[in-house]
Amino acid sequence: MLQTVPVALGARSYEVVIGPDLMADAGRRILPLLRRPKVAVVTDENVADLHLQSLREGLAEAGIAMQALALPPGEATKGWPQFSRTVEWLLDQKIERNDIVVALGGGVIGDLVGFAAAVLRRGVRFVQIPTSLLAQVDSSVGGKTGINAPQGKNLIGAFHQPSLVLADTSILTSLRPRDFLAGYGEVVKYGLLGDAEFFAWLEDNGPALAAGDMETRVRAVTRSVQMKAEIVARDETEQGDRALLNLGHTFCHALESATGYSDRLLHGEGVAIGCALAFELSARLGLCSQECPSRVRAHLRAMGMKTDLADIDGDLPAAEALLELMGQDKKVVDGQLRFVLARDIGQAFVTTDVPRDQVLAVLRDALAAR
Ligand code: GLY
Repeated sequence: MLQTVPVALGARSYEVVIGPDLMADAGRRILPLLRRPKVAVVTDENVADLHLQSLREGLAEAGIAMQALALPPGEATKGWPQFSRTVEWLLDQKIERNDIVVALGGGVIGDLVGFAAAVLRRGVRFVQIPTSLLAQVDSSVGGKTGINAPQGKNLIGAFHQPSLVLADTSILTSLRPRDFLAGYGEVVKYGLLGDAEFFAWLEDNGPALAAGDMETRVRAVTRSVQMKAEIVARDETEQGDRALLNLGHTFCHALESATGYSDRLLHGEGVAIGCALAFELSARLGLCSQECPSRVRAHLRAMGMKTDLADIDGDLPAAEALLELMGQDKKVVDGQLRFVLARDIGQAFVTTDVPRDQVLAVLRDALAAR
């Protein structure tokens, strides 16, 4: 059932290995990268409780020793204090230029540890072992690393590609259903942005996948990673096509900001709602048929996911204020909002040519339906 997806970036190329029980095999897979048989692992306290021992055993199988640092779980970790703690800990462990740092965790850990690896001794190599669905299909692949600033999310960082990604799909069984479905929002995004057949396959297989079927999980993660790898290989530093990966994210950013990046709305939930709104906007602009947003919503609903603004608990700001929040997105270029819109399911494109009134109308109607 194991799958390997290459990320073709010349001298910085690497593989993403996807499948069950990879943790037990981690040592054998990491060993070829090592100059000496030791690694430093950074994780969070929740993941450490669940998975650190299996990683320790998997590494020991190949004679690799490990030291570990467990950071507090949650988005608040992704800032300067825990970042400098991590870098100083890595220096205390005498991690050298030729050593490997392992990021074991979800997006917060992967982004923070990747950034620490990018700056430690002017750059050391790192391995991603993503433990959330979102990290397996998105954040662990492609080399975006960083931390949050008081001024906004992910504003401090670097492109630093991992040397290997091990996406152990057995780990997904330990996720809360809500976190799994939030990650699934990113999976759906890939079908919507560039592969109509994959979206149709998800319509048929999503329920089995959510219920735990391993083969469909491996297939969904693999197709998502293949699509991400292809886009990243074309446009590593987001000068063009990579922005397609932001389908749903302009709306999502405003909603996350309006809900204070809290438990009211997880990132992947915001992406799912954002995708539905992006297709709604595309239909209103006459780019795609009304059937497209209806189909997107129907699938999200069938999966029991947050689909509409009505699914977000508590108050939301008015449409004008949400539009204002979109304007604070770091993807704004020369003050112009950049949207990913679609001509059909699987046919997304990036544009700045979106009339403000139409965006407001979509938001007003979505708020009125609450
Ligand atoms: N998560 C979007 C990207 O990696 O470009």
